[in-house]
Amino acid sequence: MAYSHHEERALRFVLVTCSDTRSMAEDSAGDALSELIAQKGWELVDRVIVKDDRETIAEAIKRACDDAELKVDVVLTCGGTGLSLRDVTPEATRDVCEREVPGIAEGMRAYSMQKTPFAMLSRALCMQRGRVIVINLPGSKKAAVENWEALDPVLAHAVSMMAGGGHE
Ligand code: MTE
Repeated sequence: MAYSHHEERALRFVLVTCSDTRSMAEDSAGDALSELIAQKGWELVDRVIVKDDRETIAEAIKRACDDAELKVDVVLTCGGTGLSLRDVTPEATRDVCEREVPGIAEGMRAYSMQKTPFAMLSRALCMQRGRVIVINLPGSKKAAVENWEALDPVLAHAVSMMAGGGHE
């Protein structure tokens, strides 16, 4: 599908897994997302795991967005979007991002509602920090993969628009 004049290049991702309990060896949602990114021919340029702590998550998002060498297009967070009082990923995202892109979060929930009514329980946000798009994904492997399916068709166009590209 041709969305714009701009040549499609490999999008660059950072993945921030937010969990009090997971280690890199147990991050199955993160592993699945890494594979999905690679299948598209895109690049995961950094991957970190942080505790469910608002300031720590915010700092990890900010660092990923602002790193001049990583040249990141998309920061994916994974986990911490639910209703438990430990779930603070959306709050941390709002702390360091300027503009909300509600349609992406709404779209992920609408798509996910076809799979499970529990989709309503994700408070995930999608926001921009400058020219980086930050997308919260839920933490289970199944949920993360299903939300990725909703994103997949629009990510390249979203990134191209942030880079100043427009429509034909
Ligand atoms: N979205 C999809 N597509 N599939 C799922 O199985 N699980 C939900 C929801 N979103 C789910 C989903 C559940 S059970 C919860 S609690 C919330 O995401 C939040 O998950 P998190 O706290 O791991 O971020």
